[in-house]
Amino acid sequence: MAYCIGLTGGIGSGKSSAARLFQELGAGVVDTDQIAHELTGPGGAAIAAIRSQFGAEYIAADGGLARAEMRRLVFSNGAAKKELETLLHPLIRKQAVARIAEARQPYVLVVVPLLFETGAYRELVSRVLVVDCPEEMQIARTMQRNRLTADEVRAIMAAQLPRSERLARADEVLRNDDDIDALRRQIGILHEKYLALARPS
Ligand SMILES: Nc1ncnc2c1ncn2[C@@H]1O[C@H](COP(=O)(O)OP(=O)(O)OP(=O)(O)O)[C@@H](O)[C@H]1O
Ligand SMILES: [Mg+2]
Repeated sequence: MAYCIGLTGGIGSGKSSAARLFQELGAGVVDTDQIAHELTGPGGAAIAAIRSQFGAEYIAADGGLARAEMRRLVFSNGAAKKELETLLHPLIRKQAVARIAEARQPYVLVVVPLLFETGAYRELVSRVLVVDCPEEMQIARTMQRNRLTADEVRAIMAAQLPRSERLARADEVLRNDDDIDALRRQIGILHEKYLALARPS
Protein backbone atom coordinates (compact mmCIF):
# COMPACT_ATOMS: atom_id res chain seq x y z
CA MET A 1 0.00 0.00 0.00
CA ALA A 2 1.37 3.39 -1.05
CA TYR A 3 2.29 6.00 1.53
CA CYS A 4 -0.81 8.23 1.84
CA ILE A 5 -1.19 11.89 2.70
CA GLY A 6 -4.61 13.40 3.29
CA LEU A 7 -5.25 16.71 1.53
CA THR A 8 -8.03 18.78 3.00
CA GLY A 9 -9.17 22.39 3.40
CA GLY A 10 -12.30 24.50 3.44
CA ILE A 11 -14.49 25.13 0.41
CA GLY A 12 -12.63 26.99 -2.33
CA SER A 13 -9.32 26.92 -0.44
CA GLY A 14 -7.47 25.37 -3.40
CA LYS A 15 -7.55 21.58 -2.84
CA SER A 16 -8.16 20.66 -6.47
CA SER A 17 -5.56 23.18 -7.70
CA ALA A 18 -2.99 21.81 -5.26
CA ALA A 19 -3.75 18.20 -6.17
CA ARG A 20 -3.23 18.99 -9.86
CA LEU A 21 0.19 20.52 -9.14
CA PHE A 22 1.28 17.52 -7.05
CA GLN A 23 0.10 15.23 -9.85
CA GLU A 24 2.24 17.13 -12.37
CA LEU A 25 5.26 16.33 -10.17
CA GLY A 26 4.42 12.61 -10.21
CA ALA A 27 2.36 12.11 -7.06
CA GLY A 28 -0.70 9.87 -7.12
CA VAL A 29 -4.02 11.59 -6.50
CA VAL A 30 -7.21 9.93 -5.27
CA ASP A 31 -9.99 12.52 -5.12
CA THR A 32 -13.12 11.58 -3.17
CA ASP A 33 -15.22 14.31 -4.86
CA GLN A 34 -14.28 12.90 -8.24
CA ILE A 35 -15.15 9.37 -7.07
CA ALA A 36 -18.55 10.59 -5.84
CA HIS A 37 -19.16 12.19 -9.22
CA GLU A 38 -18.28 8.98 -11.06
CA LEU A 39 -20.39 6.78 -8.77
CA THR A 40 -23.41 8.98 -9.50
CA GLY A 41 -22.74 9.44 -13.22
CA PRO A 42 -24.26 7.37 -16.06
CA GLY A 43 -23.56 3.71 -15.34
CA GLY A 44 -22.17 4.56 -11.89
CA ALA A 45 -22.17 1.98 -9.10
CA ALA A 46 -24.51 4.06 -6.89
CA ILE A 47 -27.27 4.52 -9.48
CA ALA A 48 -29.25 1.33 -8.82
CA ALA A 49 -29.42 2.05 -5.09
CA ILE A 50 -30.41 5.68 -5.68
CA ARG A 51 -33.20 4.60 -8.01
CA SER A 52 -34.58 2.05 -5.57
CA GLN A 53 -34.33 4.30 -2.49
CA PHE A 54 -35.34 7.68 -3.97
CA GLY A 55 -37.31 6.77 -7.09
CA ALA A 56 -36.79 6.96 -10.84
CA GLU A 57 -37.49 10.73 -10.83
CA TYR A 58 -33.98 11.20 -9.39
CA ILE A 59 -32.36 9.49 -12.38
CA ALA A 60 -31.75 11.65 -15.47
CA ALA A 61 -32.33 10.60 -19.08
CA ASP A 62 -28.65 9.75 -19.52
CA GLY A 63 -28.83 7.25 -16.64
CA GLY A 64 -26.90 9.42 -14.19
CA LEU A 65 -28.13 11.13 -11.04
CA ALA A 66 -30.54 14.03 -11.69
CA ARG A 67 -28.28 16.43 -9.82
CA ALA A 68 -30.50 19.51 -9.71
CA GLU A 69 -33.51 17.50 -8.46
CA MET A 70 -31.44 15.74 -5.83
CA ARG A 71 -29.85 19.03 -4.71
CA ARG A 72 -33.31 20.50 -4.26
CA LEU A 73 -34.49 17.48 -2.25
CA VAL A 74 -31.54 17.30 0.15
CA PHE A 75 -31.54 21.08 0.64
CA SER A 76 -35.05 20.97 2.09
CA ASN A 77 -35.02 17.50 3.66
CA GLY A 78 -32.39 16.63 6.26
CA ALA A 79 -33.43 12.97 6.45
CA ALA A 80 -33.03 12.55 2.69
CA LYS A 81 -29.61 14.20 2.87
CA LYS A 82 -28.58 11.74 5.58
CA GLU A 83 -29.95 8.83 3.58
CA LEU A 84 -27.99 9.82 0.47
CA GLU A 85 -24.80 10.23 2.49
CA THR A 86 -25.31 6.84 4.16
CA LEU A 87 -25.68 5.28 0.73
CA LEU A 88 -22.70 7.05 -0.89
CA HIS A 89 -20.04 7.29 1.81
CA PRO A 90 -19.17 3.57 2.09
CA LEU A 91 -19.07 3.28 -1.71
CA ILE A 92 -16.75 6.29 -1.99
CA ARG A 93 -14.42 5.01 0.71
CA LYS A 94 -14.29 1.51 -0.81
CA GLN A 95 -13.40 2.95 -4.22
CA ALA A 96 -10.77 5.24 -2.65
CA VAL A 97 -9.13 2.28 -0.91
CA ALA A 98 -9.13 0.29 -4.17
CA ARG A 99 -7.47 3.16 -6.06
CA ILE A 100 -4.85 3.64 -3.34
CA ALA A 101 -4.06 -0.09 -3.54
CA GLU A 102 -3.60 0.15 -7.31
CA ALA A 103 -1.43 3.29 -7.22
CA ARG A 104 2.10 2.87 -8.49
CA GLN A 105 3.36 6.35 -7.61
CA PRO A 106 5.78 6.77 -4.68
CA TYR A 107 3.04 8.36 -2.60
CA VAL A 108 -0.65 9.19 -2.92
CA LEU A 109 -2.54 12.33 -1.96
CA VAL A 110 -6.04 11.46 -0.83
CA VAL A 111 -8.24 14.53 -1.32
CA VAL A 112 -11.02 14.60 1.29
CA PRO A 113 -12.81 17.93 1.82
CA LEU A 114 -14.27 16.89 5.21
CA LEU A 115 -11.34 14.76 6.38
CA PHE A 116 -11.36 16.00 9.99
CA GLU A 117 -15.15 16.37 10.15
CA THR A 118 -15.97 12.76 9.15
CA GLY A 119 -12.92 10.96 10.55
CA ALA A 120 -13.48 8.14 8.03
CA TYR A 121 -10.15 8.69 6.27
CA ARG A 122 -7.95 9.60 9.21
CA GLU A 123 -6.46 6.13 9.70
CA LEU A 124 -5.89 5.64 5.96
CA VAL A 125 -3.39 8.51 5.82
CA SER A 126 -0.04 8.92 7.56
CA ARG A 127 -0.29 12.71 7.72
CA VAL A 128 -2.58 15.55 6.77
CA LEU A 129 -1.83 18.54 4.55
CA VAL A 130 -4.23 21.48 4.93
CA VAL A 131 -4.68 24.04 2.13
CA ASP A 132 -5.39 27.37 3.75
CA CYS A 133 -6.32 30.88 2.66
CA PRO A 134 -8.12 33.80 4.31
CA GLU A 135 -11.89 33.29 4.52
CA GLU A 136 -12.58 36.33 2.34
CA MET A 137 -10.52 34.68 -0.42
CA GLN A 138 -12.38 31.40 -0.01
CA ILE A 139 -15.63 33.32 -0.44
CA ALA A 140 -14.47 35.35 -3.45
CA ARG A 141 -13.01 32.32 -5.28
CA THR A 142 -16.04 30.12 -4.62
CA MET A 143 -18.55 32.84 -5.58
CA GLN A 144 -16.79 33.37 -8.85
CA ARG A 145 -16.56 29.69 -9.69
CA ASN A 146 -19.95 28.36 -8.47
CA ARG A 147 -22.09 31.48 -8.98
CA LEU A 148 -23.09 31.50 -5.32
CA THR A 149 -23.75 34.54 -3.14
CA ALA A 150 -21.39 35.37 -0.28
CA ASP A 151 -24.06 34.27 2.20
CA GLU A 152 -24.47 30.93 0.47
CA VAL A 153 -20.72 30.33 0.65
CA ARG A 154 -20.69 31.40 4.32
CA ALA A 155 -23.47 28.90 5.06
CA ILE A 156 -21.36 26.09 3.60
CA MET A 157 -18.33 27.29 5.56
CA ALA A 158 -20.36 27.31 8.77
CA ALA A 159 -20.95 23.56 8.37
CA GLN A 160 -17.19 22.96 8.09
CA LEU A 161 -14.57 22.98 10.83
CA PRO A 162 -13.39 26.51 11.75
CA ARG A 163 -10.16 27.56 10.04
CA SER A 164 -8.22 27.72 13.32
CA GLU A 165 -9.27 24.18 14.23
CA ARG A 166 -8.20 22.82 10.84
CA LEU A 167 -4.82 24.54 11.08
CA ALA A 168 -4.28 23.18 14.59
CA ARG A 169 -4.75 19.63 13.32
CA ALA A 170 -2.54 19.94 10.22
CA ASP A 171 0.85 18.26 9.87
CA GLU A 172 1.67 20.64 7.00
CA VAL A 173 -0.03 23.77 5.70
CA LEU A 174 -0.09 25.09 2.14
CA ARG A 175 -0.69 28.84 2.22
CA ASN A 176 -2.76 29.60 -0.86
CA ASP A 177 -3.11 33.37 -0.39
CA ASP A 178 -1.02 34.42 -3.37
CA ASP A 179 -0.84 33.40 -7.04
CA ILE A 180 -0.59 29.87 -8.46
CA ASP A 181 3.19 30.19 -8.82
CA ALA A 182 3.51 30.75 -5.09
CA LEU A 183 1.44 27.61 -4.53
CA ARG A 184 3.61 25.69 -7.01
CA ARG A 185 6.80 26.68 -5.17
CA GLN A 186 5.50 25.41 -1.83
CA ILE A 187 4.34 22.19 -3.46
CA GLY A 188 7.79 21.59 -4.98
CA ILE A 189 9.32 21.67 -1.50
CA LEU A 190 6.59 19.47 0.02
CA HIS A 191 6.91 16.97 -2.82
CA GLU A 192 10.59 16.38 -1.90
CA LYS A 193 9.64 15.96 1.74
CA TYR A 194 6.90 13.45 0.93
CA LEU A 195 9.18 11.47 -1.40
CA ALA A 196 11.66 11.16 1.45
CA LEU A 197 8.97 10.12 3.92
CA ALA A 198 7.56 7.56 1.49
CA ARG A 199 10.93 5.99 0.76
CA PRO A 200 11.33 2.66 2.54
CA SER A 201 14.09 3.04 5.15
N1 LIG B 1 -3.59 30.83 -5.81
C1 LIG B 1 -4.70 31.05 -6.55
N2 LIG B 1 -4.81 32.15 -7.29
C2 LIG B 1 -5.91 32.38 -8.04
N3 LIG B 1 -6.97 31.57 -8.12
C3 LIG B 1 -6.93 30.44 -7.40
C4 LIG B 1 -5.79 30.11 -6.59
N4 LIG B 1 -6.04 28.92 -6.00
C5 LIG B 1 -7.25 28.53 -6.43
N5 LIG B 1 -7.80 29.42 -7.27
C6 LIG B 1 -9.12 29.36 -7.92
O1 LIG B 1 -10.09 29.34 -6.89
C7 LIG B 1 -11.13 28.42 -7.17
C8 LIG B 1 -11.15 27.35 -6.07
O2 LIG B 1 -9.97 26.58 -6.15
P1 LIG B 1 -10.03 24.98 -6.11
O3 LIG B 1 -11.09 24.47 -7.01
O4 LIG B 1 -8.65 24.48 -6.28
O5 LIG B 1 -10.48 24.82 -4.57
P2 LIG B 1 -11.13 23.56 -3.84
O6 LIG B 1 -10.63 23.63 -2.44
O7 LIG B 1 -10.87 22.33 -4.62
O8 LIG B 1 -12.68 23.93 -3.88
P3 LIG B 1 -13.93 22.97 -3.52
O9 LIG B 1 -14.01 22.94 -2.03
O10 LIG B 1 -15.11 23.69 -4.09
O11 LIG B 1 -13.66 21.65 -4.14
C9 LIG B 1 -10.83 27.84 -8.54
O12 LIG B 1 -11.55 28.56 -9.49
C10 LIG B 1 -9.32 28.07 -8.70
O13 LIG B 1 -8.93 28.20 -10.05
MG1 LIG C 1 -12.18 20.83 -5.34
